[in-house]
Amino acid sequence: MSETNRQWLMCSRPVGMVKESDFELRSSPVPEPGDGQVLVRTRWLALEPAMRGWMEDRPNYMPPVGIGEVMRGMGVGEVVKSKLDGYASGDLVSGMLGWQEWVLGDGGLRKLPEGTDPRLALSTLGITGLTAYFGLLEVGQLKEGDVVVVSGAAGATGSVVGQIAKLKGCRAIGIAGGADKCAWLTDKAGFDAAIDYKNEDVGARLSELCPDGIDVYFDNVGGPILDQALARIARGARIVVCGAISAYNQEETPPGPRNYYRIVAQRGRMEGFVVLDFLPRAAEAVADLAKWVAEGKIAWQVDVQHGFENVPQTLLRLYTGANFGKQLLEL
Ligand SMILES: NC(=O)c1ccc[n+]([C@@H]2O[C@H](COP(=O)([O-])OP(=O)(O)OC[C@H]3O[C@@H](n4cnc5c(N)ncnc54)[C@H](OP(=O)(O)O)[C@@H]3O)[C@@H](O)[C@H]2O)c1
Repeated sequence: MSETNRQWLMCSRPVGMVKESDFELRSSPVPEPGDGQVLVRTRWLALEPAMRGWMEDRPNYMPPVGIGEVMRGMGVGEVVKSKLDGYASGDLVSGMLGWQEWVLGDGGLRKLPEGTDPRLALSTLGITGLTAYFGLLEVGQLKEGDVVVVSGAAGATGSVVGQIAKLKGCRAIGIAGGADKCAWLTDKAGFDAAIDYKNEDVGARLSELCPDGIDVYFDNVGGPILDQALARIARGARIVVCGAISAYNQEETPPGPRNYYRIVAQRGRMEGFVVLDFLPRAAEAVADLAKWVAEGKIAWQVDVQHGFENVPQTLLRLYTGANFGKQLLEL
């Protein structure tokens, strides 16, 4: 194979905001598959806020990416050569392909069912959809009639959280940055209300929209927004700690939430989770999510950037809110 394999390596651990210079582009020969392997050409990469955490050398739910290693990342690729039973040239597969144009894989790669849209497989029917589904229904123990507030609401995870809440007979309030995202939440995604945290007083708006308190707060951002939500939880509230993107790029770990003690008075529960623990049950979530998408009950949005050379700068979009929907890159 004469083509070269371009790869993005992590060359330094980020301090504060992750930078393009924390990555280095390298070219190496395209590998040849051995017995039991497939050669995959990467077609799509999915960018995740969690990548910032994977770059740090500290305890996490996954080992850190090593300096000089190909950056870890989910993607969809096309099998180009197969020496693995059950996989044929032309099959689309998803898995941890990494930030590289070509990758050797094995039976750990998931074959996408015929006709699957790779953008959906990497968003609403992929990790972020499953995160919303299990985070809200299992960790959040959603009940009909609940008042659900979700931060990062116009993002890949948050938008699905609010829409599932609506499908289950709840009231959904989203918190997102900017008028366009808020308009999309109420006009296209069916949220009951949206709060623009960049231009509105989040606490005052939550008080107005949730006079009897918040039953489920699904937190994607942490920081001051979490604090405002905690101050307004209802009795028996469930606070689902999904992520804390406002803290991922801070040099110093920010102080904890000031209003956590409301959990005592309100007999609340605050619980974190990692979606990977729910993967054995992925099929049940995908069945529901695929049905809702097909029926037009879940609006989904992807933000597609292009060109392998642009992978690092595409990751950075997540931390400024430049992405509108699941951040993908098409190679
Ligand atoms: N627990 C798990 O297993 C699991 C799995 C997947 C994802 N997650 C977490 O879920 C969250 C959402 O991930 P996603 O993949 O769906 O990404 P996303 O929401 O599509 O994109 C990230 C969004 O975060 C918002 N944001 C960025 N900086 C912020 C800040 N300082 N304060 C408030 N909001 C900020 C931006 O939206 P605005 O324009 O609205 O600011 C941005 O668009 C992340 O915290 C991620 O780590 C957790």
